[in-house]
Amino acid sequence: MANPKICSIDGKLAEEFAVPSHVDEVKEKMTAFAIRHAAAGHRVVLITSGGTKVPLESRTVRFLDNFSSGRRGASSAEYFIDSGYAVIFLHRHRSLYPYTRMFSTINMLDALKFRGGDSGEVLVNQQVLPNISKALKRYQEMKEGQLLLPIEFSSLSEYLHLLKAAAQSLSTIGSKAMFYLAAAVSDFYIPASEMPEHKIQSSNGPLQLSMNMVPKILSPLVKDWAPQAFVISFKLETDGAILLDKARRALDTYRHQVVVANVLDSRRGYVVVVTPETQAELILTEEDVQNEVEIEERIVSNLTSAHNKFITQQGG
Ligand code: PMT
Repeated sequence: MANPKICSIDGKLAEEFAVPSHVDEVKEKMTAFAIRHAAAGHRVVLITSGGTKVPLESRTVRFLDNFSSGRRGASSAEYFIDSGYAVIFLHRHRSLYPYTRMFSTINMLDALKFRGGDSGEVLVNQQVLPNISKALKRYQEMKEGQLLLPIEFSSLSEYLHLLKAAAQSLSTIGSKAMFYLAAAVSDFYIPASEMPEHKIQSSNGPLQLSMNMVPKILSPLVKDWAPQAFVISFKLETDGAILLDKARRALDTYRHQVVVANVLDSRRGYVVVVTPETQAELILTEEDVQNEVEIEERIVSNLTSAHNKFITQQGG
């Protein structure tokens, strides 16, 4: 029997969040990608990454943004590919991107120099880009295997509709699909019907906002859109004292497989991987940091093992 709460989330999505014009085209691409890779024996992970943007005016000048650099999602994509997964990378436009993220703070022109003479040939300055060969090798292997399908979003509406399309696409491969929901998604929005068309005027005095609650998309994702998939959500808090309780509550509410819990200030070196039965702390030591170990390598290793067990339990 249909769950009225879930039907209403689908209805709300259609009514209150503008559907991106390219959603059907993207869905076809994602379905073809998932089927091709599953047939080749790969698992497929959908990674969401970066923050969503919520407009305050329909001809948007101002918007609210959720904080996320996209580093967690981008570096995880690389480690999933190293572990044999194909990756759909649903990311915020201009947030950090797999492989190139390592060079995001470098001015490309500082990294290049002329070989000399009149040939115009250009060389890479390895001192400015010390790890360029390693990154290029991994990048080319990924390209050769066509293991990364990048999809962009900016607004919350785009994120919600593209995530729904991705979930429906990945439902075609059952338990071989993993969802790794690292994006920072707004909990609040202004429905299109209540949004002013033009730029809000400061001459009208201080701004008072009333925003609606965004439907929790994890609910239909787990129950309806991709019920056989292995689903990981992230829980971000700034107060560590409430983190694990909130993570456990999310597992109870949505009945998915894993919550990766992190605190904003320590997220690069410490996370807790919480499942209904277990709780594992992943910590980087000072030595790890010196050796440039990233916490995402540990997270991905933990989750790919858990996904293996899950697939076996599902008889897949
Ligand atoms: O990108 P970085 O700078 O490297 O930082 C990484 C990170 C801190 C952003 C990442 O590790 C992280 O914690 N991401 C989740 C942050 C978050 O938005 O948490 P939340 O409590 O708002 O949401 C919890 C889960 O519910 C999320 O997995 C989200 O996908 C999901 N959600 C959220 C809102 C909504 N309307 N529907 C949802 O399903």
